[in-house]
Amino acid sequence: MRVVVAKDAAGLAERAAAHIAELIAVAPGPRVSLGLAGGSTPRATYEKLRDADIDWTVVDAWLGDERWVAPDHKHSNARMAREVLLDHVPAAFLDNPWCEGCDPKTVAEQYAADLDRTIGDKPDIVLLGMGDDGHTASLFPGTTALEETQAGYAANLVPEKGWRLTATLPLLHRVRKIIFLVSGEGKADILAQVLRGAPYPSTLVAEGADDVTWFVDEAAASCLELD
Ligand code: 6PG
Repeated sequence: MRVVVAKDAAGLAERAAAHIAELIAVAPGPRVSLGLAGGSTPRATYEKLRDADIDWTVVDAWLGDERWVAPDHKHSNARMAREVLLDHVPAAFLDNPWCEGCDPKTVAEQYAADLDRTIGDKPDIVLLGMGDDGHTASLFPGTTALEETQAGYAANLVPEKGWRLTATLPLLHRVRKIIFLVSGEGKADILAQVLRGAPYPSTLVAEGADDVTWFVDEAAASCLELD
């Protein structure tokens, strides 16, 4: 596990985007899968990726998680990813098949099948954020999706947030390169706890994966004892 500390959020975005571009360039191919994080932190990285030297025509983008909202809803992760990145580059995008009145569990099963068919059993890269409660994707502490041991994607009913769709530990643990993007002083305490191995969902993801890099800024790193 590596921790890259950038001076600030802009530096984090710059260094993370450069690293992601490099990973795409050296991926085994012929297609390269790229899981996208939701939330606010990744926006700056997606803006840098837009202008990076990347052959997007070989990239299959997918969603690490999604809120249970229409794809044009202001809280949709797909909408953010499209607006900031995917509408600007010729990557393929595997969006989840949300529909009005659908059952989240059915949609999650369908998305898992779509992902199996598209990104295969050894996805290349996934970007993840982390909440100040240690959640990542939509794997929140104490929620049932954390118990999934087979399916790659699950519907997860999150207290006070409602239904979410999320990649599960089995899927995330198959990804070759996991990249966490963590910015701001508000994440400093939880980041230090997670990197010390405290049992949060982000820890469970990181500890079961082959290759994890944390891109953080100095504010988020302020509680770390880095040598
Ligand atoms: C989501 C994200 C979620 C996010 C963290 C951090 O759907 O909200 O996937 O896991 O990465 O909550 O969010 P911020 O980057 O906004 O702090």
